[in-house]
Amino acid sequence: MGKKTFYVTTPIYYPSANLHIGNTYTTVAADAIARFKRLTGYDVMFLTGTDEHGQKIQRLAEAKGVKPIEYVDKIVASIKDLWEIMNISYDKFIRTTEDYHKEAVQKIFKKLYDQGDIYKGYYEGWYCTPCESFWTETQLIDGNCPDCGRPVEKTKEEAYFFKMSKYADKLIEHINNHPEFIQPEARKNEMINNFLKPGLQDLCISRTSFDWGIPVSFDEKHVIYVWIDALANYITALGYESGNEELLNKYWPADIHLVGKDILRFHTIYWPIMLMALGVPLPKHVFGHGWLLVDGGKMSKSKGNVVDPVVLVNNFGTDPVRYYLLKEIPFGSDGLFNNEIFIKKINSDLANDLGNLLSRTVAMVEKYFNGVIPAPVEKENIDNELIKLALETPTKAEKSINEFKIPEALGNIWALINRANKYIDETTPWILAKDESKKNRLGTVLYNLVESLRIISTLISPFLPETSEKINKQLNIELTTWDSIASFDGTRAGTKVVKGEALFPRIDVEKKIEELNKLKEEQMKKVQNKVNDIKPIKDEITIEDFEKVDLRLAKIKECEPVKDANKLLKFKLDLNGEERQVVSGIAKYYKPEELVGKYVVVVANLKPVKLRGELSQGMILCSSTEDDSKLQIVTIENDLPTGSIVR
Ligand code: ME8
Ligand code: MG
Repeated sequence: MGKKTFYVTTPIYYPSANLHIGNTYTTVAADAIARFKRLTGYDVMFLTGTDEHGQKIQRLAEAKGVKPIEYVDKIVASIKDLWEIMNISYDKFIRTTEDYHKEAVQKIFKKLYDQGDIYKGYYEGWYCTPCESFWTETQLIDGNCPDCGRPVEKTKEEAYFFKMSKYADKLIEHINNHPEFIQPEARKNEMINNFLKPGLQDLCISRTSFDWGIPVSFDEKHVIYVWIDALANYITALGYESGNEELLNKYWPADIHLVGKDILRFHTIYWPIMLMALGVPLPKHVFGHGWLLVDGGKMSKSKGNVVDPVVLVNNFGTDPVRYYLLKEIPFGSDGLFNNEIFIKKINSDLANDLGNLLSRTVAMVEKYFNGVIPAPVEKENIDNELIKLALETPTKAEKSINEFKIPEALGNIWALINRANKYIDETTPWILAKDESKKNRLGTVLYNLVESLRIISTLISPFLPETSEKINKQLNIELTTWDSIASFDGTRAGTKVVKGEALFPRIDVEKKIEELNKLKEEQMKKVQNKVNDIKPIKDEITIEDFEKVDLRLAKIKECEPVKDANKLLKFKLDLNGEERQVVSGIAKYYKPEELVGKYVVVVANLKPVKLRGELSQGMILCSSTEDDSKLQIVTIENDLPTGSIVR
């Protein structure tokens, strides 16, 4: 019989911008679990990747004037670099733009269509592009996306629908029969009460208004809804519908999908229903962790308040960042990322507790035994408590990991570290060293410390892999298997230790904070000067060129939506008594009634055109972000006569 298998996944990230410490958090947590499972004898498949389709990516690429694939290629490369820096041991990286994935998703769509779970209809409702989510009118909060609070866009288009409702009862039954399916428990109730109980609506799963996606194979003007495309990654990565399903047979069902609470809904409702419809077993656990908050609230790529993991690693190293994320953020609830707490933790837990334990032990072996690890020939009762804890800790840590309690697992390991430090205080080796007749006893104490460190090093290896290797090097440890830490005798007496640098140099908190603040200030300045990659400034013109454009002040008298054109608003403007009709594509940013009475700047001598059958005699000036997510009309502060020249 082969080894037991374990399949762990992260969300596949949107390559819309470089990843921040929040995305890093999920991946580091998955990595710790994957490494722990490998250590404890499992054949692990650890999958991560990128979710590259969708309207958001298409727009970002357009704003930059590059092809979507060029846009994502660059960011995917930076994501892979980040995982390298963070020491992420993924077994496979899936990109949804890869052919094997696209073909499998098309087959999934076709299969569901052929069996009648997908049908064609009309979609009318609201779409949040940053979240790639559909909403009904009643789900909106103050007219905005209920998930992220940003403006939504009205859409009406021919679309395919997935009969989610058909599987709702079966899903509720599954959740009730498998209380461990949605984790942590509190989130399970949230899913049932907020989403399943109110009743599931059929899900719109195709779009025609843009084309950066996987086409429906039998109706190519439709692209498949990006969430259907994305969720499928967990099985397509293992070869589902590829002709070779060996990996799928080996690793599926997934042991755990690790996701942030923002996307738990997709993973505990849409995804299981897709799988049910396909006749594929459901994953064993879906774990929704909380938010990493910065002092100002939730961090997100689009808010710009992100903590850059690369900056942290450059300043503090990989393992301190991993440690803070894994130990200090309660796994399952929200947690704060704060520089001061972070640095203090490095000093206390890493430099003091772990670093000193190693440096004191190595220093004593060098000083008293010329660097050669002595044999434990003179045992005393006082050793038993340490040995007992050292032997219990692996089981405790394993239990915590099996319950997805990562901080608890680290807590158990740190209890052993601190017990070993206490053992030094109890046995006072420096006093033993003064008495030649205590040489054997001193040797035993040092052996016990080295052996404890061997167990500690093995135990921390999934969480702090680099540190574990450094400890092994200094102590010349060879045995680091799980089996070898089930007994307290794996250190070979006679081995020579190799003193190295301090594992974690102490950091001057105030000085470092000041340094970081300066760095941030510089960054902010850069950001203020150059917020985004804006379009290049156009070629120089003369004042005469500019004066060809006749800009005038006008006042909005009336404003209404244009029928069947959800982007357009129709204005009646007053321009020095003359009434002008202007059509403008700003419906998604303003409600008509908000605009009436406002002053706008119009290009008054622009050749009139017809837009959707409506005459437009001029153009209203607006300013917008590159990705068009935000837009404002250009207006004036106080009254001026309409018709006034703007120059
Ligand atoms: O949602 N704190 O991708 P995404 C903690 N492509 N974790 C955070 C976080 C924060 N402040 N911000 C983000 C997507 N995350 C989809 C997923 S899966 C089939 C498709 C983490 O790039 C968290 O795990 O927006 C969240 O679920 C994930 O990043 C979302 O990454
Ligand atoms: Mg997101």
